[in-house]
Amino acid sequence: MLAVAVLAAGKGTRMKSALPKVLQPLAGATLVERVLASAGNLKPERRLLIVGHQAKRVEQQLAPLGGLEFVLQQPQNGTGHAVQQLIPSLQGFEGELLVLNGDVPLLRRETVDALVQQHRASGADVTLLTARLENPTGYGRVFADADGQVSSIIEHRDCTNEQHSNNLTNAGIYCFNWTALANVLPKLSTDNDQGELYLTDTVAMLPKAMHLEVADADEVNGINNRRQLAQCEALLQQRLRHHWMDEGVTFVDPESCTLSEGCRFGRDVVIEPQTHFRGRCVVGDNSRIGPGSLIEDASVGTNVSVVHSVVREANIGNDVAIGPFAHLRPAADVGDGCRIGNFVEVKKSQLGAGTKVNHLSYIGDAQLGEKVNVGAGTITANYDGLNKHRTVIGSNSKTGANSVLVAPINVGERATIGAGSTITKDVADGALAIGRARQMTKDGWAERKG
Ligand code: UD1
Ligand code: CA
Repeated sequence: MLAVAVLAAGKGTRMKSALPKVLQPLAGATLVERVLASAGNLKPERRLLIVGHQAKRVEQQLAPLGGLEFVLQQPQNGTGHAVQQLIPSLQGFEGELLVLNGDVPLLRRETVDALVQQHRASGADVTLLTARLENPTGYGRVFADADGQVSSIIEHRDCTNEQHSNNLTNAGIYCFNWTALANVLPKLSTDNDQGELYLTDTVAMLPKAMHLEVADADEVNGINNRRQLAQCEALLQQRLRHHWMDEGVTFVDPESCTLSEGCRFGRDVVIEPQTHFRGRCVVGDNSRIGPGSLIEDASVGTNVSVVHSVVREANIGNDVAIGPFAHLRPAADVGDGCRIGNFVEVKKSQLGAGTKVNHLSYIGDAQLGEKVNVGAGTITANYDGLNKHRTVIGSNSKTGANSVLVAPINVGERATIGAGSTITKDVADGALAIGRARQMTKDGWAERKG
């Protein structure tokens, strides 16, 4: 039997944030979600989350993940105190308890798997993850012999000068034999610089404590302040970019681009500089995105180009050109072969295949057929001050420059709207509609004016 407990009750004072530390986002997922995911291969029987600071908020955010037991730690008197709160919940539980600090988000699943495996193979009471760090400042120091047997962990602030020179650090990831741990938990004391109950002190009380040193020290980065948050973000972004490069994506200037975990890219996608993907995005083969674009929760087909544009919660078909300087807003659905040009905004509208909106337009709450040519400056006037209304334009129709289509309105197929028109009545298939004042020209007017 395996239970996983994540320590997520701390405030994260050093972050200086209104947000609890474990809810800070990193490449589109919170720290605690990432920590939980690192134990994802193990299929634990129980998953416990120790909450305290802003407990309700943390619970609300994580409840949708399902299968979590929330255990309250109030007040928060240290990591040992946090694990003591599990005693009633784990009454009668037999097996391993994997304890994960909630602020160690870069752990790989394979590393956590290896920790549990080694623990089971050695029959230790506890096995903890360690790393040799060039700069171990702030981390607990692990004192161990050449066989990997640990005698104690001493927090940075409690170390003597000599002890500080030990750079073997505690990652905050432990696999305990629960029965053995439960026996020593009540014996913890607050005899340390912070006056807290330290989980790390249990290690010296257990007969057989072992450690597993990670090969890649970056994995065990703990986040206590915004500098460390930024470092972890940079590492995670690099991991994501390397993953997609290995899958056939070109980054012209990798470090200037950011991705989220929920992105999927096809082969030969080119990501130009200063381009950012957030949330869940899919980009098809041979598309070229950027430079200077933001794509969020969007799907982009194959062979698409997006230049200096913002695309949010929108769908783009294949062989489409977007931008420069276009804004696709939620529920913009752009068909194959469309062209959305400069300074064009599209919201909650379907555009049929081959339709072009090339310059300076707003298309909102509209349905455009195939091969519609929307003239420069055409606006769908969709809002009457109270409600939104729909505009429908049939296939092969054209609107002249600077047309206003006052919704609700239906324009048929093969219809033409004269330039500068304000259209308030439906237009039949094949008709020409002009809705503007007739031009008046007074010859010789300048001379007469004197
Ligand atoms: C801890 C370890 C240190 C290790 C480091 C690794 C202890 C005493 N020290 O130090 O040896 O090198 O992690 O990153 O454990 N938390 C609670 N309740 C509390 C206090 C903390 O749930 O009362 C949670 C926090 O939310 C956080 C985690 O425990 O997720 C670690 O707490 P933190 O204060 O960051 O410990 P460190 O000082 O980093
Ligand atoms: Ca920490």
